Amino acid sequence: MADYPARVKIVEVGARDGLQNEVSVATEAKIALVNALKDAGLKHIEAGAFVSPKWVPQMADSAAVIQGFTRSDDVEISALTPNLKGAELALENQVDEFAIFTAASEAFTQKNINCTIEQSIERFRPVVDLAQKNNIKVRGYVSCVVGCPYQGAVQPEQVLAVCKQLLSLGCYEISLGDTIGVGTPKKVQQLLTLLLQHIPADKLAVHFHDTYGQALTNIHTALQMGIATVDSAVAGLGGCPYAKGASGNVATEDVVYLLQGLGIECGIDLERLAKAGWTICDALGKTPSSKVSLALKQTCQS
Ligand code: HMG
Ligand code: MG
Repeated sequence: MADYPARVKIVEVGARDGLQNEVSVATEAKIALVNALKDAGLKHIEAGAFVSPKWVPQMADSAAVIQGFTRSDDVEISALTPNLKGAELALENQVDEFAIFTAASEAFTQKNINCTIEQSIERFRPVVDLAQKNNIKVRGYVSCVVGCPYQGAVQPEQVLAVCKQLLSLGCYEISLGDTIGVGTPKKVQQLLTLLLQHIPADKLAVHFHDTYGQALTNIHTALQMGIATVDSAVAGLGGCPYAKGASGNVATEDVVYLLQGLGIECGIDLERLAKAGWTICDALGKTPSSKVSLALKQTCQS
C-alpha cells in the first residue's frame, strides 16, 4: 500500500482559473460561488486575478468579488499578482496570499505575461518585497511543467531551475502547472523524482488541467510520492486563455471523491461542493465536466 499523506490541502482555483476562461458571468454569481465554496469547507480559495483587464477581461471585477463575499478568519483568499501594480491592488483588497506566475517555457511566458522567464523573476521582486513588508505569503506557479502549447515537450531540469528561482525569491510553495493537461503518470513521476531530490514535498503543489483526462491519475501518482497540496476547480471549470485547447482544471468534486475513497482528510462537504458547481454552471449555461458532480446530480434527482 502506498504511503499517502494523511491530509490534503485543496486550493480551489475555480473562481480564477475556471472563470478566467469561461463566458463572462455576473459579479454577483462569482460572489455567490466564493461564498458557496467557503460553505462547502474550502479553506484556500483563489478568488481572482489582478492582471491587465485588456489581457483577461473576465477577471476585471476581481476587486468587487473579493470585497463582496463574506470573509472568515479561517479561509485564505489568494489572487494572481503578475507585477507590482497587481500586488498593490491585491493589498488594497486585503488578499491573504499573492500568487506570482511564470513558466518553464519561454514561448508560453512571452504569450502569457509578455516577457522572458528571467524578466518575470525580476518583475516579481517588488511583488515579494511588498508581500513581505505586509506579512503576506507568496505562492509561485510554474506553468507548462510537462509540455508547452508552443514549444512542445518540457524537460524536468527546466522546471527545477524555475522552481529554484521562485523559492529563492521567497515563495513558500510552488504549484506545478500542467497547463495543457498533457501529463501522464510516468511523466509526472519523472518530474517529481527530480524535484523531490532538491525541494521538500511540503513546498510543492500539483495543478493539473484535464485536457487528456489524465489529471486524476496524475494526482494519484503525486499523492503516492508525498505531495499533499492539490489545486482544482469546482465543476472542472475553465482552461487558460493563453493555452489554446487547454480544458479546465481537474474538478474539485472528483478530487474530493478520490481522497475520500483513499481515506485522506480534506475537510470538504462533497454535496455542498457539488451544489456550488451546479449553481455556477447554471449561470454559465454549461454542464459540469466533473463525473462525480453528474453522478451526484442524478442521485439527487432520483
Ligand atoms: P504588458 O502589456 O506587457 O504590461 O502586460 P504593461 O505594463 O505595458 O501594461 C499594459 C497595460 O496594462 C497598462 O494599461 C497597464 O496600466 C495595465 P494602459 O496604459 O494600456 O491603459 N496593467 C494592469 N492593469 C491591471 N492590473 C495589472 C496591470 N498591469 C499592467 N496588474 C501583464 C503585462 C503581466 C500585465 C499582462 O501580460 C497580463 O496581465 N497578463 C496576465 C495573463 C493571465 O492572467 N493569464 C492567465 C493566468 S496564468 C494561468 O492561467 C496558468 C496557471 O493557472 C497555472 C497553469 O495552469 O499552468 C496559473
Ligand atoms: Mg491553470
